[in-house]
Amino acid sequence: MLFDPRPKTSRSDLYDFEEELERLLHALSEPMVLVSGLRRTGKTSLVLTALNESGLPHVYVDLREGFTSSRELYVLLSRSLSDFVERASRWGRAREVLLRALSRVRGVSVMGLQVSVSWSPRERPLLGELFAALDELGERLGGRVVVVFDEFQRSRGSVGVALHSAIAHSYDFHRNLSFVLTGSEMGVLYGILRNPENPLYGRAYVEIRTRKLSREEALDFLERGFAEAGVRVSASEVERAVEELDGIIGWLAYYGYLRVGGRGDLERVVEEAVELARSELESFLATRVSRRYRLVLKLLAQGVREWGRLKRALEDAEGRELSDRVLHEILHQLRSHSIIDEENNFTDPVVRRAALQL
Ligand SMILES: Nc1ncnc2c1ncn2[C@@H]1O[C@H](COP(=O)(O)OP(=O)(O)OP(=O)(O)O)[C@@H](O)[C@H]1O
Ligand SMILES: [Mg+2]
Repeated sequence: MLFDPRPKTSRSDLYDFEEELERLLHALSEPMVLVSGLRRTGKTSLVLTALNESGLPHVYVDLREGFTSSRELYVLLSRSLSDFVERASRWGRAREVLLRALSRVRGVSVMGLQVSVSWSPRERPLLGELFAALDELGERLGGRVVVVFDEFQRSRGSVGVALHSAIAHSYDFHRNLSFVLTGSEMGVLYGILRNPENPLYGRAYVEIRTRKLSREEALDFLERGFAEAGVRVSASEVERAVEELDGIIGWLAYYGYLRVGGRGDLERVVEEAVELARSELESFLATRVSRRYRLVLKLLAQGVREWGRLKRALEDAEGRELSDRVLHEILHQLRSHSIIDEENNFTDPVVRRAALQL
């Protein structure tokens, strides 16, 4: 179903993106692949569909929530490995082979299909030892094993660097592993991969970008989705929806899903989308000097994009002069997180509307 709100996993549910899918399938034989693109443009769907199509065994680690300690990272890895073991029957002997390899790694215990990796400093395995077990799985099965880190830019801090370092080591030595990294905050992502001080620096990767649909594609996507669901929606509403939501497939699917479910008209759905975008902006603001960010976001949303006007507004709000660095840093952060582009335009019209409400 085109409007299914979960990430797609099969080619038949994936609208368009044929070319990206072929490129990704091809790239899975490389040691490292980056799938980058704005939020809700179908990165996870593309990756999961390619992996299903490829038939390659894969471990999927969702880093969206981030981690600030080894404990949090190891819990995520335990979950991902358990999930792998649960799904493994489709990959022949994969379950048995992996469990055997893992049982030799210190700090790893297996109960039924649950893999649990200890995070205690005395017992925990090195991340490299876990990757080695997966490499051995590939070796034994005679093919590649893929490890996906979704929203990779969330791997920050010292534990993040430990992960980057383990991936770098694995890149160099584990011939049967491929890493697929995805990211939606482009500046932050490149801040990791293109930073000479990062262990991953200098390792080549293939990059595949997801994109917004063109206006025609977006209209076609909605029409097909509604036809598939047997729901009639006027052409003018569909056009307005594309105007409001742009070619961001995640928003279009969200609209289609709620609309088909009878959860209100376009206006209601857009309101819900804006609400969602607002709570995401709030979590971005939570870790920053938020009154300044709020003001800049609001002004940008109102169409004030010139440096001088933005700076003056910040100074008026605080009643004192501010150094250029303040506004520089704010705009830099907004760009790094792909909230605005180089011309200070919002990358997503729904986020712009959310910013108006800050
Ligand atoms: N090619 C596609 N065809 C149909 N629906 C899609 C497609 N790509 C994505 N979607 C839908 O759009 C929504 C977002 O997709 P997905 O989670 O794959 O995007 P994402 O880029 O990983 O998003 P995020 O940045 O939030 O992680 C989901 O509802 C998914 O079903
Ligand atoms: Mg995703």
